[in-house]
Amino acid sequence: MAKVVLKGICKRFGDVEAVKDINLEIQDQEFLVMVGPSGCGKTTTLRMIAGLEEISEGKIFIGDREVNDVPPKDRNIAMVFQSYALYPHMTVYENMAFGLRLSGIKKKEIDERVAEAAEVLDLRTLLHRLPKQLSGGQRQRVAVGRAIVRHPQVFLMDEPLSNLDAKLRVQMRAELQKLHRRLKTTVIYVTHDQVEAMTLGQRIAVILNGELQQAEAPLTVYDKPINRFVAGFVGSPPMNFVEGNIKQSGDDFYFEAEGLKTKILKELSEYIRDYAGKEVIFGIRPENIWEIGSSKWLKEDEKAQYEAKVDFRELMGSDTYIYVKIHNNPIVARVGSLTDVTPGSTFPLVFDLRKIHIFDPKTLKAVI
Ligand SMILES: Nc1ncnc2c1ncn2[C@@H]1O[C@H](COP(=O)(O)OP(=O)(O)OP(=O)(O)O)[C@@H](O)[C@H]1O
Ligand SMILES: [Mg+2]
Repeated sequence: MAKVVLKGICKRFGDVEAVKDINLEIQDQEFLVMVGPSGCGKTTTLRMIAGLEEISEGKIFIGDREVNDVPPKDRNIAMVFQSYALYPHMTVYENMAFGLRLSGIKKKEIDERVAEAAEVLDLRTLLHRLPKQLSGGQRQRVAVGRAIVRHPQVFLMDEPLSNLDAKLRVQMRAELQKLHRRLKTTVIYVTHDQVEAMTLGQRIAVILNGELQQAEAPLTVYDKPINRFVAGFVGSPPMNFVEGNIKQSGDDFYFEAEGLKTKILKELSEYIRDYAGKEVIFGIRPENIWEIGSSKWLKEDEKAQYEAKVDFRELMGSDTYIYVKIHNNPIVARVGSLTDVTPGSTFPLVFDLRKIHIFDPKTLKAVI
């Protein structure tokens, strides 16, 4: 068990700057998820931690030891990849035992470790099977088992669930969490799927273009995104954004765009004061927009009502997403199971003013 520290990590492939000055401390026994769009540098970062990729700049520590020059096999880590890469001609047992045998570990100890992993992963009855005789989820468990038997200090996982169908993925997510609680090991888990990140991570590190944007608890990232990118990346359907201006009237501040005037709550005035008369980007999540009948619990000064013209709707069963225009601004609202909203109709919607976000259009940083 160990913490992992990344200090000013950079990776250049010729002209490509894949990873730019990442500083991040992953605590002992923490489950940290790195998330970001395709090509943002997640795999490269993980491979540098594993020692499979040379570091262009910076230092990596595992435990208290700097590992820049430590070869992968001596870093005490185990990696699980998206392609499980099981040996097709070896049984489940042999797949798990193989690496240990190469390390010169005695047969008795290998047997014990494989039995332990098989127990944890519910693979006991499958030890004699070949990979082709397993389901996708079972193969995935063997790949994890192969990592577990090494008793690593740190697990590195690169999109290990992306080959599974949606239902199995949800099931394996729960199993990985249980496994983490049981093994009490540090886990660094990479995914481009923000839902997976939100549900798995004790902390999530959002990366864009090789740069770390924000590393905090999932709900903190969700409620207080540090910038417009994080705000738009986490959450589905994504946050709505509208460009406009801040107007001051006496002591009150408003966000104004065409056909959309929103009061900024008094307690937030101090953050917005410097933006009076300036352009900003306004943001609100679909679930913070209500149909009028369900908004009664909001206090009068905490809500703003608009006429919305319905473009289309998506019935999700438990919720309905309605895609509307408030004047020319496209907005998505997630409302209860409304079925009588038809395209072309107009419809009053209520914004929860306690839940709005304002971003600086130049730096894209969150102001509120
Ligand atoms: N060996 C390489 N040579 C040159 N460029 C590379 C190499 N490996 C990765 N890159 C580039 O570095 C950037 C980061 O790649 P990386 O594989 O780390 O992204 P990722 O976040 O894991 O993406 P994905 O979600 O698609 O797996 C990309 O622009 C990629 O094209
Ligand atoms: Mg990758």
